[in-house]
Amino acid sequence: MRSAYGDIGLKYKEDETVAYVASRMPAVYSACHRVLKEVRRRLPEFSPTSMLDFGSGPGSALWAMREVWPQPLERVNLVEPSKDMQRAAQSLLRDLKGVPIIHSYDSIQELNQNLEKRERKHDIVISVLLEPGTPHGSKIIWQLWRYVLWMAKRKHRKSEKSDEVCCHEKSIVDRGAVREGAFVIAPCSHDGRCPLENSGKYCHFVQRLERTSSQRAYKRSKGEPLRGFEDEKFCFVALRRGKRPEEAWPLDGVKFETLKEKLAKRKPEDLIIDYEDQLGPEVEEAFSYDEEEDNSYASDVSEIALFNKNDDEHGDDVVDSVESADLGGGWGRILYTPLRRGKRITMDVCRSTKRDASEGAFERITVTHRHSPELHLQARRSLWGDLWPF
Ligand SMILES: C[S@@+](CC[C@H](N)C(=O)[O-])C[C@H]1O[C@@H](n2cnc3c(N)ncnc32)[C@H](O)[C@@H]1O
Repeated sequence: MRSAYGDIGLKYKEDETVAYVASRMPAVYSACHRVLKEVRRRLPEFSPTSMLDFGSGPGSALWAMREVWPQPLERVNLVEPSKDMQRAAQSLLRDLKGVPIIHSYDSIQELNQNLEKRERKHDIVISVLLEPGTPHGSKIIWQLWRYVLWMAKRKHRKSEKSDEVCCHEKSIVDRGAVREGAFVIAPCSHDGRCPLENSGKYCHFVQRLERTSSQRAYKRSKGEPLRGFEDEKFCFVALRRGKRPEEAWPLDGVKFETLKEKLAKRKPEDLIIDYEDQLGPEVEEAFSYDEEEDNSYASDVSEIALFNKNDDEHGDDVVDSVESADLGGGWGRILYTPLRRGKRITMDVCRSTKRDASEGAFERITVTHRHSPELHLQARRSLWGDLWPF
């Protein structure tokens, strides 16, 4: 199998490891950080104390973990076949406070041989694959997602059978977790088939990051135009054991006023207020998302208007305007850059179509200022990858 970086079986020797740390680690760290922040948003009470990183390389994910959940980790196990990568991870983490003894294993088999069953349980398991945000990478993630959900269901069936024979062998907690299978925390709001399958589009996200000085020097030496940042494309799926909680959907029982209703309520002294005035000048923007035929790593290709020049008041990064969101199926996910035309915003949203989140659809929705100034404002603030409340 080949990836955008070459053979997946690539062995990282010292040179490749140094090159990876200098050129790829910042972007992988940024993407991990973004994904883990998303997990924290959906699971505010979750506070992992043990982690397993499969294919840990120089430990980018561990650095992101520390940033997102600053409380000390108690147990860290890394699985990494390259000794040079293992050394790089240990050396980067040397002298860092709040990091427990880190155990590196060459393979999952070695880890299994060396750890007791209870030590093999981790609060969080991370695996950063080779493929970046490409159609192929998305396919790998999709296969992984199907496989994990299938395994969880299989275990569930097995546990039901064994429960029939002898139900007191497993702890209640264990049985509960296995019985309920697994569900997707993000990016999907549902556990059904991916609606983008065979659509010609693929599910991916983009994280902008500042280039390091060595990256800038390297870029300059290649004679390419110099930019202070790059856009890292990535695909991901975050899964959790158990059953997706059944929550009310964010807009259940919520009614938004139309512009007309709002205007009708205005007092004479408010007459000069225009909701658009509060937002600043409306700019006509029409971005189109071109599916890229080129599957190569494209962090140098400027991502289509990912960051909106006119939205500086909303932050300088991909900041989701939703601070925290429950795990129910009611939150859709915005894919690709929302399209603005005058006072209309059109967004592609992947969302649940059933209350139990067992199925989803990829749909284009349009929000107009006239129909709802509040939703329009929310849509104006929304970026590719954000949650959307329906
Ligand atoms: C692209 S690197 C990603 C590194 C790391 N996850 C990070 O966050 O920077 C992929 C890593 O997976 C490791 N790897 C390759 N095959 C593996 C396997 N069968 N089991 C575990 N790790 C593997 C490679 O040695 C490499 O360090």
